[in-house]
Amino acid sequence: MNKNWGKRTKLVHAGTRRSQYGEVSEAIFLTQGFVYETAEDAEARFIKAGEDEFIYARYGNPTVRMFEERMAALEGCEDAFATASGMSAVNSALMSIVSAGDHVVSSRALFGSCLYILEDVLPRFGVDVTFVDGRDLAAWKAAIRPDTKAVFLETISNPTLEVIDIAAVCDLAHAVGALAVVDNVFATPIYSRALESGADLIVYSATKHIDGQGRCLGGVVLGSRDLIRGKIEPFTKHTGGALSPFNAWVMLKSMDTMDLRVRAQSATAQAVAGALEGHEKLTRTIYPHLPSHPQYALARKLMEEGGTVLSIDIRGGKDAAFKFLNALEIFIISNNFADSKSIVTHPATTTHQRLSEDQRATLGITPGLVRVSCGLEDTDDLIGDLMQALQAI
Ligand SMILES: Cc1ncc(COP(=O)(O)O)c(C=O)c1O
Repeated sequence: MNKNWGKRTKLVHAGTRRSQYGEVSEAIFLTQGFVYETAEDAEARFIKAGEDEFIYARYGNPTVRMFEERMAALEGCEDAFATASGMSAVNSALMSIVSAGDHVVSSRALFGSCLYILEDVLPRFGVDVTFVDGRDLAAWKAAIRPDTKAVFLETISNPTLEVIDIAAVCDLAHAVGALAVVDNVFATPIYSRALESGADLIVYSATKHIDGQGRCLGGVVLGSRDLIRGKIEPFTKHTGGALSPFNAWVMLKSMDTMDLRVRAQSATAQAVAGALEGHEKLTRTIYPHLPSHPQYALARKLMEEGGTVLSIDIRGGKDAAFKFLNALEIFIISNNFADSKSIVTHPATTTHQRLSEDQRATLGITPGLVRVSCGLEDTDDLIGDLMQALQAI
């Protein structure tokens, strides 16, 4: 791999390992284990496996390794470890670096399952977690203490699209020796500036833009070789969060087109947000690259485009939102996003249902809020579908 390759070249070629057959398309090594020539060979491999030597698919697999190396090349990180899902990546990243008695500061605007790990799981293991409004740098500053081990945030929050100044938060974390763990799903691996902003561990749900076609769960943690091999690998390989080789292969095939897909979907999302803004049936249209977004300038600095997802708040609350969802003809009702098929989600009753009403109110997850993920269909068809469904309310 040439480090000077552009993103698209890396997405197609980085990390490729060819077998003795010289296959063009990446091979799926759908095998849990590997045969050793001799008992001595097995012993030696358990002591230290070489670059091209594998032991057991929970530890590593050639197809999974291709996916890890391609992601590391794309993100500009030294190394990566693939996981069974985005949540497995978040869990591994946090559980690998904190211990009982440690303190963690987290943004409060989190995806429901991320919140579960920080609010329920970590405290059960003696980790003290302080939540802050991620947009408020003074709040981060006040919460970070000398014993803070890690900070956690979603660069752009799900589903209210709050934008966090990751460079400033990483600086505050590093000043006390804490690690910055960044869930970068909404920023996408295409527009990511997490590494240059100072993130120590970058986490993706590969289920989103990386697969991008609604087929497989997957995740990945990226960072320095020391952190990935020293912390993430031992924890993940012994606790069973490995990515399936089949899913790694699907992700690899998807990466060929990821740049094209994400750019096309982001252009559509920008056009959709522009068309919906100010609509009489909406109280808000939230999209990071709309000038009306409260953190527009920061969002422009962090991301070359605004991403593939917007949120809208429908006048009339849950009833009106449900009427709108049920009237859509092209958008499907589901809970994933960043898919080639456009998807609408009602967070208050699905992805963020387990939050208390107070928590939802604090985060702006109102009964009328609908998350709109733009796919690869014709932009005009999507705008037409949204407009006719708004008329149907
Ligand atoms: C911000 C964020 N992090 C993590 C995840 C979890 O990903 P997965 O569903 O692949 O476990 C999601 C899923 O929606 C998410 O939105």
